[in-house]
Amino acid sequence: MLLELTALTLAGIHFGTPLLYYYYLKSRYLNKPWDIKIDENYKPKVTIIVPTYNEAEFIWNRLDNINIQNYAKNMMEVIVVDSASNDGTVELVKKWSSEHNNINLKLVEEPKRRGKLFAVLESLKHASSESSIVVFTDADAFWESDALDNAVKYFADPSVGAVTASIIYSNDKTIENVYRNYYNTVRIAESKVFATPVHNGPFLAIKAELLGKHGLPAFPGSDDSSFGSYVALLGFRAIQVDDAIVKEPTRGNQFRRKIRRAQHLLLNFLKTKSYAKKIGVYRRVKSFEKIWGVEWWLHVVNPWLLIASALLLAMSMFYASFTAITLLGIGIALLVLRMYRTWVTQQLYLVIAAVRNLWTREIMWSK
Ligand code: GDD
Ligand code: MN
Repeated sequence: MLLELTALTLAGIHFGTPLLYYYYLKSRYLNKPWDIKIDENYKPKVTIIVPTYNEAEFIWNRLDNINIQNYAKNMMEVIVVDSASNDGTVELVKKWSSEHNNINLKLVEEPKRRGKLFAVLESLKHASSESSIVVFTDADAFWESDALDNAVKYFADPSVGAVTASIIYSNDKTIENVYRNYYNTVRIAESKVFATPVHNGPFLAIKAELLGKHGLPAFPGSDDSSFGSYVALLGFRAIQVDDAIVKEPTRGNQFRRKIRRAQHLLLNFLKTKSYAKKIGVYRRVKSFEKIWGVEWWLHVVNPWLLIASALLLAMSMFYASFTAITLLGIGIALLVLRMYRTWVTQQLYLVIAAVRNLWTREIMWSK
């Protein structure tokens, strides 16, 4: 009986915390105004950074997609930073560039592949000093044509340090669709409070001045979410917005990709704050501390409660416990519900990611 009771308590905490957090944020903060001075006419120079490794399949369309942005072309600069691709990516970039003189494109070629983080750090050295905003993106991302305009307007307020777009996976680009996703709702509500610690690689814009002063968190495994969290830990708003919308194809081995992303996400919660403290740039913001605490719990600890609960129930089954069999049965039967299934698989990814981080940080991944 004790085993079952413990299992039930652990499962209750596991599912209860994120649900409570979701409903709390949704009801209290989601519809609050931004408390940010948004200015549609704020159109500074921006630098867009596209890191590539063997992106021949996507790079042409990616550049076309940047080119169809409503943002004035003479106010943008594109830097493609390639790490010794051997599939013709570089040739395609050169060809695209020669056919499109309206856009200022720089190609930075790394002599060998050291991973995305190194490439991105290298590319920053080539960014124009006139740029006020640096936007990081992926070669396979697709931005809605107003994504850049809609993200940039938030930077008119000096408190804003980073803006990330919302990802949608279907062709319906309505705002309601953005909120159909549990994560988007939570991220945007957190952003209304102060900042979100999770950011999207297909579109992450950062105030150039901060990059110039404080660089990027350059620990192994640091990625999009760490970049965004770092900005929040510097004391600036780092927000996900619902009017800048991007799409991302699902490609490659989904299982490995999800685990890799979970690995980077975990490293964000384990390393970014201590990194900011170590280099002496950390600025405590009370409301963000709370968000960070909950998300830290949800990523680092909470997934293990589910595993522990399932193990305890499996153990009590040995004692032919009817309760245990029923509970485990319910837990498994619920997998027919998509929401529940997605949640449970994400928990497993986080657990596998935690173990995998012990020997590799996935700095150079295959697709
Ligand atoms: N220059 C360079 N060098 N670029 C690289 C390298 C490298 O060694 N490795 C990957 N990239 C580029 C890819 O070409 C692509 O443009 C981008 O980094 C993201 O890589 P994907 O292969 O598309 O990975 P994803 O779809 O899972 O990306 C997501 O997760 C990554 C972290 O695991 C995104 O959110 C990425 O922004 C994020 O880095
Ligand atoms: Mn991708």
